[in-house]
Amino acid sequence: MTHNIVILAAGRGTRMKSQQPKVMHRLAGRGLLQHVLDAAAALKASRTVVVVGHGAATVEAAFGAPARVFVRQEPQLGTGHAVQQAVPALDHAADTTLILNGDVPLVTAATARALVEACGGKRLALLTMTPADPHGYGRIVRDGQRVLAIVEEKDATPAQRTIGEVYTGMMAAPTKALERWLAALKNDNAQREYYLTDIVAMAVADKVPVVGTPVADETEALGVNSPQQLADLERRLQRRRADALMTAGVRLADPSRLDVRGALRCGQDVEIDVGCVFEGDVDLGDGVTIGPYCVIRDCRIDAGARIEAFSHLEGASVGAGARVGPYARLRPGADLGEDVHVGNFVEIKNSTLAHGAKANHLAYVGDASVGAYVNYGAGSITANYDGANKHRTVIGADAHVGSNCVLVAPVTIGDGATIGAGSVVTYDAPAGQLTVARGKQVTIAGWKRPKKLKATGN
Ligand code: UD1
Ligand code: CA
Repeated sequence: MTHNIVILAAGRGTRMKSQQPKVMHRLAGRGLLQHVLDAAAALKASRTVVVVGHGAATVEAAFGAPARVFVRQEPQLGTGHAVQQAVPALDHAADTTLILNGDVPLVTAATARALVEACGGKRLALLTMTPADPHGYGRIVRDGQRVLAIVEEKDATPAQRTIGEVYTGMMAAPTKALERWLAALKNDNAQREYYLTDIVAMAVADKVPVVGTPVADETEALGVNSPQQLADLERRLQRRRADALMTAGVRLADPSRLDVRGALRCGQDVEIDVGCVFEGDVDLGDGVTIGPYCVIRDCRIDAGARIEAFSHLEGASVGAGARVGPYARLRPGADLGEDVHVGNFVEIKNSTLAHGAKANHLAYVGDASVGAYVNYGAGSITANYDGANKHRTVIGADAHVGSNCVLVAPVTIGDGATIGAGSVVTYDAPAGQLTVARGKQVTIAGWKRPKKLKATGN
């Protein structure tokens, strides 16, 4: 059996009060529509068609990929009209067509697949729910178990408004019948719109079985119409992720103060303190501890490493047993070996620090290779940029770079070399020797401090 997927994403999203199209807004770091597209991708549809309208060009540019087709709905005359626009782009041989919403981001692939199966190319399958407040939703009108129709809030009688079961906006329909029903839609209703939901009564009239399946977890059916709802879904999604991490044994100081905006993989005995944000792909090895308020994006942190409070790591790799922070900044290409120490207010970019190297205070290491057990002094920097090009600094194993040095790249410090504090190093420093490059200390004999001039009246 094959199926199409249609994702409705043409609506304006007035209540977001934003210049951005609604489906561009971010949930857990990804656009709302991206969440739906990811769930859809797991279903391997023969065609995935996204209906766009408001901000169409922006949405197409942001979510365009060869695997999907965009169709435009201009003007937006309702959900039925939206699906009509998708019809020419459908695979007509696919027996089922699934309809999802671009602003209902937490639907799972499993739920979507179950809808497709419930349809099976011959039934109209509706996903329903019974929210605490059904206001605003289309009501599922049943006669006993049998679904008869969906009635929109604005068209419902007072008796129908008391119905608690509502339509979530997701359905799966037999493709050929859907095309026929869509062609027969009328807009003689309270909103002068072509309602997709009117096809339910048409299916009943055509004796096509209609099945209404309640969604197992209503979070899957919650839509985003306002910043409040967006923030609410964010918390729900984050809580789900926190629970999954804890189930896997990760110790979170507070599951309500964790934000995972990508994929976070953790080994055993990982501890994460409050307020941390993980973005992109992050791997934490066994026994890693992350202190409070760290931001970690696209990093690999090996077993037993400790990241202390307020550190910011991006595109870095941290070796086993290393210590980073507090207040450290690792930028892309920072590659720390085992037992490396990087302390407060140290910035490292595109550099390797071999086993046991230390840069503990107030330093910058950029475009450098730092050997094993190097001690890189407080306040020292690599001057890696000459205003036009970046150059490398090489520091041999066991070298000691004193405090407040400037290593003017390209430059090489030999193994075991010592660089005196305050040196501006512009030539290579030989291995095993002391190199000092600074003004010599002198004492001026007989020098007197100037005296304060006497005040001259008034
Ligand atoms: C719709 C359903 C309602 C259901 C509710 C669930 C209809 C007529 N009503 O309500 O039964 O309870 O969803 O949230 O279908 N869209 C377009 N083009 C349009 C209009 C809408 O693409 O012309 C898209 C929107 O961007 C959105 C989705 O369709 O993704 C639903 O639209 P929305 O206006 O939120 O739905 P309602 O009409 O309120
Ligand atoms: Ca809605």
